Amino acid sequence: MLEIRVAEIRDIPKIIKCHERNFEPYLSATQLKSHMGEFPHLAFVLESKTKEIHGYILGEMRIKKKQEYGVLTSLAVNKRFREKGYGKKLCNSLFNAMIQTYKANTVTVYIRLTNELAVQFYENLDFENEGVEAEYFSDQTDAYVLKYNLTNFVITEGVAN
Ligand SMILES: CC(C)(COP(=O)(O)OP(=O)(O)OC[C@H]1O[C@@H](n2cnc3c(N)ncnc32)[C@H](O)[C@@H]1OP(=O)(O)O)[C@@H](O)C(=O)NCCC(=O)NCCS
Repeated sequence: MLEIRVAEIRDIPKIIKCHERNFEPYLSATQLKSHMGEFPHLAFVLESKTKEIHGYILGEMRIKKKQEYGVLTSLAVNKRFREKGYGKKLCNSLFNAMIQTYKANTVTVYIRLTNELAVQFYENLDFENEGVEAEYFSDQTDAYVLKYNLTNFVITEGVAN
């Protein structure tokens, strides 16, 4: 049984390890520290009783045309614990915090075109695919833009906060 809690600065090395083992090859500790400093309510970890971190989620708020919106920056669950509902629970904790802290109306996630599993995962959570944003990533690759309307989100009991 794993628990979700708000991430703390001391979790950074474990979050990086989880990211690099389960998602992409590199995450900068400096960037992560600055991200968590700016959005301390929008980072959660999935932790075992023995304090191992088996998943995390990071979010942020951005502004476009004077409109503030949520962005799901990064999410990963250790392969051993996938398809048990933890990815969805991490999303619920983040969405709840975005609504409570920032009154966010939408959350957007940018996914590499090759990451079909993630597209399926977000579509399963009722995200809508809004098409492709060219050269979104720093390596100039394109992203699918998937958006979820948080006004449809029912704040549930038991989410981490
Ligand atoms: C995407 C990811 C976080 C999903 O985590 P997870 O814990 O396995 O997801 P859940 O168990 O909460 O699944 C939620 C729903 O998606 C479905 N789902 C999960 N994995 C799926 C897959 N491989 N194919 C199809 N559906 C899938 C589940 O069946 C579940 O549906 P349900 O609510 O109807 O039962 C995980 O696969 C991962 O870490 N991938 C690598 C990193 C990544 O690509 N992150 C996303 C980009 S930010």
